[in-house]
Amino acid sequence: MNVELKNLSFDAACLARTDVLVLLAPSEAKLPAGKSAAADWFKQVVKPGVLGKGGVQQLQSYADPRFAAKQVLALHVGKGDADTVRSALSGVLRSLPAGTKTVMVSTHALALTPSTAKAATPGRDWAHALVGAVEQGTYLYTTSKAHTVGKALAAKVTLCGDKLQALSAEFDVAKAVANGVAVAKEWANRPANLATPTHLGEQAKAMGRMRNMQVQVMGPKEVAKLKMGAFMAVAQGSVQPLRFIVMQYKGAPASQAPVVLVGKGITFDTGGISIKPSPEMDEMKYDMGGAASVLGAMQAIGELQPKVNVVALIPSCENMPDAGAVKPGDVVTSMSGQTIEILNTDAEGRLILCDALTYATRYKPDHVIDIATLTGACVIALGHVRSGMFCADDDLANALSQAGETSGDLCWRMPLDAAYGAALKSNFADIPNIGGGRAGGSITAAKFLEKFTSDYKWAHLDIAGTAWVSGANKGATGRPVPLLVTHVLQHAAQAQAPVRASSSAAAKRAVKKAR
Ligand code: BES
Ligand code: MN
Ligand code: ZN
Repeated sequence: MNVELKNLSFDAACLARTDVLVLLAPSEAKLPAGKSAAADWFKQVVKPGVLGKGGVQQLQSYADPRFAAKQVLALHVGKGDADTVRSALSGVLRSLPAGTKTVMVSTHALALTPSTAKAATPGRDWAHALVGAVEQGTYLYTTSKAHTVGKALAAKVTLCGDKLQALSAEFDVAKAVANGVAVAKEWANRPANLATPTHLGEQAKAMGRMRNMQVQVMGPKEVAKLKMGAFMAVAQGSVQPLRFIVMQYKGAPASQAPVVLVGKGITFDTGGISIKPSPEMDEMKYDMGGAASVLGAMQAIGELQPKVNVVALIPSCENMPDAGAVKPGDVVTSMSGQTIEILNTDAEGRLILCDALTYATRYKPDHVIDIATLTGACVIALGHVRSGMFCADDDLANALSQAGETSGDLCWRMPLDAAYGAALKSNFADIPNIGGGRAGGSITAAKFLEKFTSDYKWAHLDIAGTAWVSGANKGATGRPVPLLVTHVLQHAAQAQAPVRASSSAAAKRAVKKAR
């Protein structure tokens, strides 16, 4: 991704030499100051509501003598809010021919004020929206395609405006987040034969080259020694050896309790002996979306070097049916000592996560967040817009909600009432891995995980509906990397300035300092 910021007057932008000039045009445009004939044209286009009325989304102008650009595009962006700008701009970038070398985007008509009340850091939501649009608009999966050379838009994109430079710190964050999103998309999109637990371990190891990053990758022997019986039970039906990945980013003194991120890394979920139906089963290559998002978040954190400690834990294996596979009714002993009756081998995510959550205790974490494509039920509950967020602690829940709003990577808090866990009763083990039928299935799963988190503050993100999109544009989204990184930075700022965090000006200074 090649993106830069430039402070430029509207007239100068209109006269810039570039292959494509995109003029963002909200229907409630703050008309940019400009005296050139080009600026005049833009005002004519925007003022009478030519754009946005009657479904006109774009006005194109080629080789217009008033502009130096080869092609000018006035792009309607609705009311000019961050979300609409993101989707409209990424769509336009995707439609440009691959030969395009330079794209200039004028933000002059936008009011770059916080576009949601919850976006705590002014400007950061805009940085995420604009840079995120460039990432989404230029991304192309190529790893397992022989014929993609020359298809990706390799253009350099310049975002220009009057006051953009003032937001440059926010843009640096957004760029690192976009790089993290790209890492998450790449690994989630790779087919399961090219993204095995071994491959994920190698990627993590390679990331260990970043400053303040240490990586350890464990295999079956070490995991057996740790007595991770639930994790091992899922892995035992596959010829691919499991991996348990531990990444430690040390940006603060060891005395500071770390944030621990735990990512579900099922590189393919057939369901095991409780096998899934065939249609769309290919999409279960995305069942390591949680792991991919944790790798992506660590990439961004490694680039930004915030003053905070972060541990990433990734249990990774395949869930396969096999002569040696775990069977419905088998009872296994988890690392916590609790025995589990595996009534459905397709509820495997919670089995690998529970042992990683127990392992997390050794870091005496400030808090732990697990991220998992855990339940189809979460897709039924929230669709593809918001990830499910489960957290008994109000402060942590609010922080995660806010990180979602700021980054445009939304989540929604779900309940954890004790009554939802009532059906987790087994006659043959301490707990079963399923219970209560289909109703409220995402909450039952969270209640299962909760039984392994009594030592620390904990949140669970169910990303089954948000980690990828299906259909003609099938592909990973890179979510929730933006939410995770925004949250970790916000936490870093608070950990740096515990006394002054209440004043918003002090909090802002602390955000800067923490980087
Ligand atoms: N990886 C799936 C969840 C999933 C399904 C995510 C479809 C996205 C789309 C998970 O391992 C699973 O199979 N969950 C079961 C749980 C059930 C057996 C209690 C489910 O959701 O059906
Ligand atoms: Mn499953
Ligand atoms: Zn799964």
